[in-house]
Amino acid sequence: MAVFSKGLGIDLGTIYTRVADSVQVLMEEPTIVAIDVQDQKVVEVGKAARDMYGRVPESLEVVRPLQNGVIADYEVTEKLLEYLVNQVSGPMRIFKPRVMISVPWGVTSVESRAAHEAVLQTGVRQAYLIWQPLAAALGVDLPINSPSGNMVICLGGGTTQAAVMAMYGVVSAETMRAGGLQLDDAIETYVRRRYGVIIGQVTAEQLKIRIGAAVPQDSEQSMEVQGQDQVTGLPRPITLTTGEIVEALEDPLRAIVETCRRVLEKTPPELVSDIIDRGVALTGGGALLRGIDKLLTKSLGIPAYLVDNPMTCVVEGAVRALPIYPQLRRNLPQV
Ligand SMILES: Nc1ncnc2c1ncn2[C@@H]1O[C@H](COP(=O)(O)OP(=O)(O)OP(=O)(O)O)[C@@H](O)[C@H]1O
Ligand SMILES: [Mg+2]
Repeated sequence: MAVFSKGLGIDLGTIYTRVADSVQVLMEEPTIVAIDVQDQKVVEVGKAARDMYGRVPESLEVVRPLQNGVIADYEVTEKLLEYLVNQVSGPMRIFKPRVMISVPWGVTSVESRAAHEAVLQTGVRQAYLIWQPLAAALGVDLPINSPSGNMVICLGGGTTQAAVMAMYGVVSAETMRAGGLQLDDAIETYVRRRYGVIIGQVTAEQLKIRIGAAVPQDSEQSMEVQGQDQVTGLPRPITLTTGEIVEALEDPLRAIVETCRRVLEKTPPELVSDIIDRGVALTGGGALLRGIDKLLTKSLGIPAYLVDNPMTCVVEGAVRALPIYPQLRRNLPQV
């Protein structure tokens, strides 16, 4: 019988798009599409398209259709969603699913309508929108149905969202249109300024993930990467250390801390005291950065902890929102 009431959650992220049903995460694909320039047909989607990034002839274009959590290329997003929905529910779609899709907190009505339309045109039965931090809170089982305060920080690839929630609604929140990609940029800039060597975004991200940290670590790691000498244009290997990445990330991390601090400042004191007791849940891929829990705990004065499912909690929470839609409705983005 479950088939008849099939519901899907979609987390349309800047870097990854995830689809889940009430049982499991069904798909996780990079939000990237390769298109044939001439007829605008989709050639590859997700991982296969990402592998083509920067390596295709002029007849093909590899596009990231989302920027900072919102749709930048509507047609390509439609094609991506169509592909994903077809994969999970079959092209025939006898049992049309109901879909809950997340959008960053505070996007404009034009931006949220675009997400709604893009899902609807895939032929689903109904499409609903949910604020991303609300979905994340449901996905990590925070008691947001109660009058007590709960805080979530979503550290995504293209956005950073901090939100305090109670009674199924968002009480205070902010979205910064910058995230993991901007941390990668900061590493690229650091390496160029300090060593006169140009590295690519993929290399910068590898440095961040493998040896990076938000605060100085007891055990320093190092990693050798290939770059290009800024002056001669020739390949040049360089070795970077954890301490250098910490230094490179200082400024963008300070901006993240400031965003969280502003949210706390506008939160009523009763709710702040709940949050001090319960802690702040860190979600999104950026929550995996070593020591970011320590940095936030120290600079906010509230214990921050990494959740068990940082990358999938939004999509899992989006599915969980479907059966409680009547209670949530008032607090969801309007289209
Ligand atoms: N171990 C790690 N350390 C630091 N950053 C990481 C780690 N693992 C993944 N990331 C970063 O997490 C980001 C992707 O996270 P996520 O999938 O939550 O983003 P998204 O949902 O696509 O973006 P958004 O929600 O902003 O639209 C990337 O910037 C990636 O570099
Ligand atoms: Mg996200």
